[in-house]
Amino acid sequence: MSPFRTDLFAGRVALLTGGGTGITRGIAEMLAAHGAETVLVSRKAEHVMSAATEIEQTFKRRSLGFAADVRQPESLEVAVAYAVKELGRLDILVNGAAGNFPCPSGDLTPNGFGTVIDIDAKGTFNACRAAYHAWMREHGGSILNISATLHYGGTPGQVHVAAAKAAVDALTRTLAVEWGPLGIRSNAIAPGPIGDTEGAKRLFPGEVGERIAAAVPIQRLGTIADIAALALFVLSDAGANLNGAIIPSDGGLSLRGIFDQAFTSRL
Ligand code: HXC
Repeated sequence: MSPFRTDLFAGRVALLTGGGTGITRGIAEMLAAHGAETVLVSRKAEHVMSAATEIEQTFKRRSLGFAADVRQPESLEVAVAYAVKELGRLDILVNGAAGNFPCPSGDLTPNGFGTVIDIDAKGTFNACRAAYHAWMREHGGSILNISATLHYGGTPGQVHVAAAKAAVDALTRTLAVEWGPLGIRSNAIAPGPIGDTEGAKRLFPGEVGERIAAAVPIQRLGTIADIAALALFVLSDAGANLNGAIIPSDGGLSLRGIFDQAFTSRL
């Protein structure tokens, strides 16, 4: 049972990149369940079209799929124009499209590094820019970027992702200050390990996931539902004073330090 009013986002329109799967799909469903109309953007047409159809049928709110690659600024401009033309407005942008594969830094090619920067960092900028020009500059809006916590320390095999998500954080804070006066809020959620995503199944399968869960202070991995509920809070009027916030949702995992086991064993 949702803790939010079911008409919380009635009359609002949200565009979500990476909306066909995983965390962003979960946010799209939560928004639709609370009254929003949604446009899901993903480079994989088959994912995004079926996801939009399922959301529309389940929640009885319009949901449209649009195939576009966030690495191509022009295709995002077309996606945003499509949202405004079909649904009449664009109140919310969720940047969830992300690339991730583990790779030792010495083995990573320049193109491998650049590909993740292009998707996560430049893709987020491209979508923000498109939404700004097509709607938000005139009417305001709310931007929610999906960041991560792995750049808070050093995460082996993730130099490309860490660099990209650090850029997403910088972008979130900068836009908050620059576009805040126009009524555009810019915030980010930084999920820790989220157990029920395809990415998690690939990046930390089975027993690895169990070991990570045991290290989380609340003793479990996060869920897509955890992130979707937080997204609703940030995007709703309950989050009206949040701007430039980067909110970790990781059960406290990123707070653990090198000394914690030594000191815990003395307690
Ligand atoms: C080394 C790799 C690689 C791998 C790709 N590359 N996969 N290098 N190990 N496993 C390199 C390629 O060799 C190539 O460089 C360059 O990256 C581009 O690869 P392509 O396959 O041509 O690119 P593309 O088809 O565009 O797709 C790449 C990708 C994809 C989008 C990055 O591999 C990917 O990540 N898919 C997974 C998407 C995903 O799961 N997203 C959720 C993220 S979860 P060269 O030099 O050979 O040309 C997340 C959570 C993190 O972010 C938090 C965890 C706690």
